[in-house]
Amino acid sequence: MSYKVGYFIGSLSSQSINRTLSTALIHYAPDALEFTEITTGDLPLYNRDLEGDLPAPARALKEAIAASQAVLFVTPEYNRSIPGTLKNAIDWASRPYGQNSFDHVPAAVIGASPGGIGTAVAQQSLRSVLSFCNARQMTAPEAYIQFKPDAYNEDGSVSDPDLEKILTTFMQEFHDHIERVLTVLPRH
Ligand code: FNR
Repeated sequence: MSYKVGYFIGSLSSQSINRTLSTALIHYAPDALEFTEITTGDLPLYNRDLEGDLPAPARALKEAIAASQAVLFVTPEYNRSIPGTLKNAIDWASRPYGQNSFDHVPAAVIGASPGGIGTAVAQQSLRSVLSFCNARQMTAPEAYIQFKPDAYNEDGSVSDPDLEKILTTFMQEFHDHIERVLTVLPRH
């Protein structure tokens, strides 16, 4: 059985190390996972006044999540939290009241930073937000990636065997998590 995974990259940078990480994650994911990026850069800042007639990018965001069977967040840490662009996207997707796009959706969180903390604090912050949004989060394994550029190859593979094991295990566990959640809570 294959599953559609929509993935968010918390960075808008064309040079994003989290985009590089996402490419490696997809490279090592089981074949049963199909990935589509869900973009956030064209969303206006969330404003309750706009909920009556959702802006087109917000509607597209909610449709992209609805078309996914699970969501993956690959995010940087900004000032010990998640980037505003990602929080803004989650806020849009969670509304209007009663139409929260993340309700019961299998989800996983990972991220990379140049520093040794490897986005640990941002991930905890994101987990808190996703808990409130009632996403079905994978709680383990956690992965806090200290980004070392030389380890990542153009084709998405990595040259560090320890990193390869972390990424492979993380994505296999995410696949198994999705399967378990969707067995109980089927989603198109
Ligand atoms: C950072 N960075 C950072 N790193 C970290 O480990 N903890 C932090 O709290 C922060 N805070 C922070 C705030 C802001 C506004 C910026 C721009 C950066 C550094 C960050 O990890 C680094 O710039 C990464 O390269 C960002 O990820 P992308 O955009 O390359 O994916």
